[in-house]
Amino acid sequence: MIPVTKPFVPDYFDYQHLLQGIWFRNWWTNNGPVLQQYQQALQDYLGVDSVQILGNGTLALQLAFRALDLKGKVLTTPFSYVATTSSLVWEGLEPVFVDINPQTFNIDPEKIEERVDEQTSAILATHCFGNTCDIDRIDAIAKKYGLKVIYDASHCFGTLYKGRPVFEFGDISTLSLHATKPVHCVEGGAIFARDPQVQERIFYMHNFGHDGPESYRGLGINAKNSELHAALGMVVLKHADVILEKRSEVAAHYQQLLSGSRLSFQGIQEHCSPNHAYVPVVFETEEALLHVKSALEKHQIYPRRYFYPGLNQLPYVATAPFSEPTPVPVLEHVSKRIICLPTYFELDAKQREEIARIIIQTLEEKEIVYSA
Ligand SMILES: Cc1ncc(COP(=O)(O)O)c(C=O)c1O
Repeated sequence: MIPVTKPFVPDYFDYQHLLQGIWFRNWWTNNGPVLQQYQQALQDYLGVDSVQILGNGTLALQLAFRALDLKGKVLTTPFSYVATTSSLVWEGLEPVFVDINPQTFNIDPEKIEERVDEQTSAILATHCFGNTCDIDRIDAIAKKYGLKVIYDASHCFGTLYKGRPVFEFGDISTLSLHATKPVHCVEGGAIFARDPQVQERIFYMHNFGHDGPESYRGLGINAKNSELHAALGMVVLKHADVILEKRSEVAAHYQQLLSGSRLSFQGIQEHCSPNHAYVPVVFETEEALLHVKSALEKHQIYPRRYFYPGLNQLPYVATAPFSEPTPVPVLEHVSKRIICLPTYFELDAKQREEIARIIIQTLEEKEIVYSA
């Protein structure tokens, strides 16, 4: 069976070594020594000034909105994982969808300004599949209208923009360290705020607001992570270079194998060095996608329809109290034709060749006029 992804599994004895320390210290959570070590190692590896590790990437988004005091409407992408939108609604904010760019699949800066109104407080944009948004243009629009910018950089471990870590951009960036991500700690997330005062606020917020055993800096929640997760994160992080190299190799191999067939790849944003966390391909029609998907499934190969349907279709955003959803035709056109191919560390060249062979053969065999 070939699933769309598999978690990277580090050396068991490396983990056991850290586990032993945790066991005998009897310090399992609450900013323990392994978590602190992991946080420092992550900061060094990513080349950022500061980072706060959290329980997951969804909490990172929720804390971001709180830390920036967002109110009212937030302009966002309809093409992302559900957490990007659900966390806004969860925090009492109104998502306002802006259509995507047909090549990069990220929010289209051309279409942001027409959606800004007096209730808009921020832009929440996802760097989809590890390929950055047009950061310069988004930041310029945000500056013009006095909006905050949050980048959902959940997919972006190792992605660079203009040679710099992508987490340095926007007011806040968030990362997921979930087991499905190339570099992970099973369940985890991280948050990067540009303003040190905001980062400090997040530090207190993520631990119930405590600034001492009997005193509180403000409102907070439990968004902490544990020593067990941090230990797993530490041993995975040791392999980050090879994990990322392997992702590039897999993406380049698929591109080579599938070039000339009736599908297209994600367009990479200018100035972005992507991490190839995913390998999305777009077919000419949904019909073609469904044929290929079922042909692959017959061979126990399971790609995923990331992201389908669009987030504008979520039942809780398509209704009152939110404004009438705006049309997002590019999203509709892309989301029904896109699929992510299996991509994980152990996926070998033969398996990639087999996947490509089935795709090419299915597209050729089906004598369907795939009218776009
Ligand atoms: C774009 C995006 N945002 C947010 C999340 C949520 O991250 P987590 O699963 O760590 O809560 C994910 C997770 O897959 C994601 O892909």
